[in-house]
Amino acid sequence: MLTQRLSLNKAPVIRVKPPGPKSMEILSIQDKLESSTRSYTRFFKMAIDYAKGSTIVDVDGNIYIDWFGGVSVMNLGHGNPIVIRAIEDQLNKITHITELPTEARISYLKNLNATLPGKMKDHSKVLFTVSGADACEAAISLARYITKRRTIIAFSGSYHGIAGGVVHATANPHYREYASFNPHEVFFAPFPYPYRFPIKGDDISKVVIDYLDYMISDPYSGISKPAGIMVEPIQGEGGYIVPPDDFLPMLRELADKHSIPLIVDEVQTGVGRTGKIWASDLYGITPDIMCVSKSIGGGIPISSVVYREEYDNLPTAFHLGTYRGNPLGLAAGAAILEYLMKGNLLDRVTKYGRNILSRFQDMMNEYGVIGDVRGKGFMIGVELVKNGTTSPNQEIAQKLRDVLFQNGLLMHTCGHYGNVMRFMAPLTIEDDLIDNGLEIFESSIREMIK
Ligand SMILES: Cc1ncc(COP(=O)(O)O)c(C=O)c1O
Repeated sequence: MLTQRLSLNKAPVIRVKPPGPKSMEILSIQDKLESSTRSYTRFFKMAIDYAKGSTIVDVDGNIYIDWFGGVSVMNLGHGNPIVIRAIEDQLNKITHITELPTEARISYLKNLNATLPGKMKDHSKVLFTVSGADACEAAISLARYITKRRTIIAFSGSYHGIAGGVVHATANPHYREYASFNPHEVFFAPFPYPYRFPIKGDDISKVVIDYLDYMISDPYSGISKPAGIMVEPIQGEGGYIVPPDDFLPMLRELADKHSIPLIVDEVQTGVGRTGKIWASDLYGITPDIMCVSKSIGGGIPISSVVYREEYDNLPTAFHLGTYRGNPLGLAAGAAILEYLMKGNLLDRVTKYGRNILSRFQDMMNEYGVIGDVRGKGFMIGVELVKNGTTSPNQEIAQKLRDVLFQNGLLMHTCGHYGNVMRFMAPLTIEDDLIDNGLEIFESSIREMIK
């Protein structure tokens, strides 16, 4: 189903025990000059030479299998010729212009429209932003502006970014009016997390929806009528948590019942990750507002907010940012969406995703440190626990990430307790790199619990 091999022919290849001497030297210069707030250099101690498809080469010549994809950004793989060609063509035209239309911008808008979930297609407008957090923040400002209300309902375990706040140091009151953010105006509802939800049974979606319905309806609940409900269809940083299939349709109904805009954050679930271009289509829902970023730019930072056309009476300069809609990212995004629409890559993601899930499930049946395995498409979480219990085991997750790295497999953690290993490989990863990775994963677990 893949027309050409994108990755290097053989991986992993560990020539020097990582971190090798060349990596060490570069890492020490970085340590001297760059902020200590970095986290990934603690997890994966290597300096990068180059990457191809789902393989990454460090400066010591080690070749790693990439199940990390730059935190779910490289859905089509590193250096995919389709993306590179689009960026190269655009490089020779223009690399930055604010808002004025280019061919890349119009192609992106058209292709994005053609892929939109449910009734959004042909009935939406797009607002350009720069990062995932920027898109989520603009989405909240938009919901507040159109409803003239303030409270946002978010979910336990959510991650929508860490932007926000600086507008309070911007003097022009015009901008503060639309974008200002008060943390007390967010109400966190429990996310239906099947493995850890305190109320057991098959109807945890109903429990959450009934609770929210009660809190929204009751004038004495303590929350004022919300401006928006913000949700990740499958939680990403929170632990690759897949809600029951009925949850999003029920949330959609609840939002309609109370006339509250539903903001769906597709930053991590989008661009084919779950086997559909948008996870909203997996659950048959139409968002009122949708946030898009990460893999849409193929490695170039872009993001967008898509919203119902009826909301489109926004004042000029409602949301600003010099770099919104970078032409290189838009050219990449247009090419990526076209590829996903025309090819059969997503069928492969659905089919292979099921196989990978079931391989991890087999391991769960074998090893007591795997408490739960869940996922859709290539968004799969493996939750690690203390042997034979459900107690989160962050220690083993951190150790496992390091052992995998030493063995040439890049895999990162997530979750409320940092105890979930996540499979977020490029959607184009070749069969042998899936198999080799699964073997390394299993043998590392076996070795660790010996
Ligand atoms: C669902 C979701 N929303 C928003 C963000 C924030 O994106 P960014 O890091 O580009 O600001 C992330 C980042 O991981 C995310 O996973």
